[in-house]
Amino acid sequence: MLLQGRNLIQPEDFSIQEIDEILSLAQNIIDNPSKYSNICEGKLLATLFYEPSTRTRLSFEAAMNRLGGRIIGFSEPNSSSVSKGESLADTIKTVECYADAIVMRHPVAGSAAEAAKYSEIPFINAGDGGNQHPTQTLTDLLTIKSLKGSLENHTIGLCGDLKNGRTVHSLVKAMARYKNVKFVFISPDELKMPDYIKEAIKGHAYYETNNLDDVIGSLDVLYMTRVQRERFENQDEYEKLKDCYILNKSKMKNAREDMLVMHPLPRVNEIDVDVDSDKRAVYFKQAKYGMFVRMALIMKLLGLSVERHMIIERECVNV
Ligand code: NCD
Repeated sequence: MLLQGRNLIQPEDFSIQEIDEILSLAQNIIDNPSKYSNICEGKLLATLFYEPSTRTRLSFEAAMNRLGGRIIGFSEPNSSSVSKGESLADTIKTVECYADAIVMRHPVAGSAAEAAKYSEIPFINAGDGGNQHPTQTLTDLLTIKSLKGSLENHTIGLCGDLKNGRTVHSLVKAMARYKNVKFVFISPDELKMPDYIKEAIKGHAYYETNNLDDVIGSLDVLYMTRVQRERFENQDEYEKLKDCYILNKSKMKNAREDMLVMHPLPRVNEIDVDVDSDKRAVYFKQAKYGMFVRMALIMKLLGLSVERHMIIERECVNV
């Protein structure tokens, strides 16, 4: 099936082959950025952010700009008609009149699937509450593939707030589709990986623990996450758990020489800044991969390719 015109609500919406196509295109963009600099000319991307964001929103905007396209949208719902009581359905039906694709982040789990029903143009989930974050997953897959050479045969440790972190929910479901991938879920009892995710990866090897030191030496990738303050009803509970894991130089001594330390960012305290200079710390590189993979995703959903662009340009010259 073609990716053109499709939505991305969760990683399983795309087959492994389709994800591979996106990762390969992203790699090609990294290798030849100038080839892609005006491929989205005349196209408009709408970014609707009902929740705070730095990387996801700016990387989508940077991606569209680097493809020669333009952006409309809001990063502050109070500046839109949402503050007048407009429904999500009406906002989407209006925005699709203006744009060629929609990117939305929203605090309510399930809101992306709901909103996409009202969109005739490609709709991308940029995070729906504590549920899913598929474009972060594309970012993570590109990072692992580029730096480890493959998405197969890895032991991946996920550490921190596994209950509320949408990035780990999406990543685990996506990685479970590759051969011989094992998971180590590292969290306090209060923040364990939800049963519905464990159910979704049934048949796959996973191990749960609350002790990072015990397992760090067995990991190919350590994916650290922030304790998700905004998802806690009880702030005292957050205060109690917020610093449950702090990765530092001394803990890194027990890790393999080729282990990757990843983090979707923003970080609070969970990785000490003294780890940043360690060559295994790749979280800022990961943010860069995020922009390239979003460039590839936008192109695919809009049905654009360099070959098609060259034909159109040739036809314009011949007119
Ligand atoms: C993540 C998110 O929004 O879920 N951030 C991001 O998109 N890179 C992780 C987080 O906020 O902790």
